[in-house]
Amino acid sequence: MGGETLHVLKNIDLTVNQGEYLAILGPSGSGKSTLMNIIGCLDVPTSGEYWLHGKRIAGMDETELSHIRGSEIGFIFQSYYLLQKQTAAENVELPLLYANVPDRQRKARVREVMDLVGLSDKMYHYPNQLSGGQQQRVAIARAVANHPSILLADEPTGALDQRTGEQVMRLFHELNDEGNTIIMITHDSKIAAHARRIVKILDGVISEGVLADA
Ligand SMILES: Nc1ncnc2c1ncn2[C@@H]1O[C@H](COP(=O)(O)OP(=O)(O)OP(=O)(O)O)[C@@H](O)[C@H]1O
Ligand SMILES: [Mg+2]
Repeated sequence: MGGETLHVLKNIDLTVNQGEYLAILGPSGSGKSTLMNIIGCLDVPTSGEYWLHGKRIAGMDETELSHIRGSEIGFIFQSYYLLQKQTAAENVELPLLYANVPDRQRKARVREVMDLVGLSDKMYHYPNQLSGGQQQRVAIARAVANHPSILLADEPTGALDQRTGEQVMRLFHELNDEGNTIIMITHDSKIAAHARRIVKILDGVISEGVLADA
């Protein structure tokens, strides 16, 4: 910032094992999104190492990062980010198109994941014809479609009412039971309590093994 270096994340040492369901819990400004951007290969750390699925991420260029994102990370955001002019099924199909999955396999996988999130009857709805919770489930179907090694969720229930948020949390449990690795970022200790492990972050420093206050 104006010639001064701002240290947002400090001495982060974090190992996430395959199949884990981890919450990163911290207040506004603590560094959650910065950490998420690094885990999600949207950004690289200034110093230090990041290994994902046996690949060294720190030091990769943008082309390599975008390839890793497409194959390894399923993103779920607070505001869904569905394409409004595409149907639910088309939104879910997109990562499979980018990954050059053949036509028949692609259509079958779209049906499979739409079924997984309980929306087989809404395949041809547009996002604005779906409720917030349904849109988030489409976004989750899209995130899991290409079998990523991590599901990375930033405040996934932030825009939902409590009941709908709980439905999404139940879906996360099912996805984790099926072997999906989930990293969920939140400022809400009640939401974090759904995870099987919680890491707290405060002023860019993480502390482990502390259970949420909820
Ligand atoms: N591009 C940037 N330039 C300068 N400072 C930044 C930049 N991005 C983030 N920061 C600072 O880094 C710190 C952490 O920001 P970050 O967005 O990671 O927080 P957060 O935990 O995600 O907060 P929130 O819960 O509000 O989303 C903040 O103090 C912020 O001001
Ligand atoms: Mg943030």
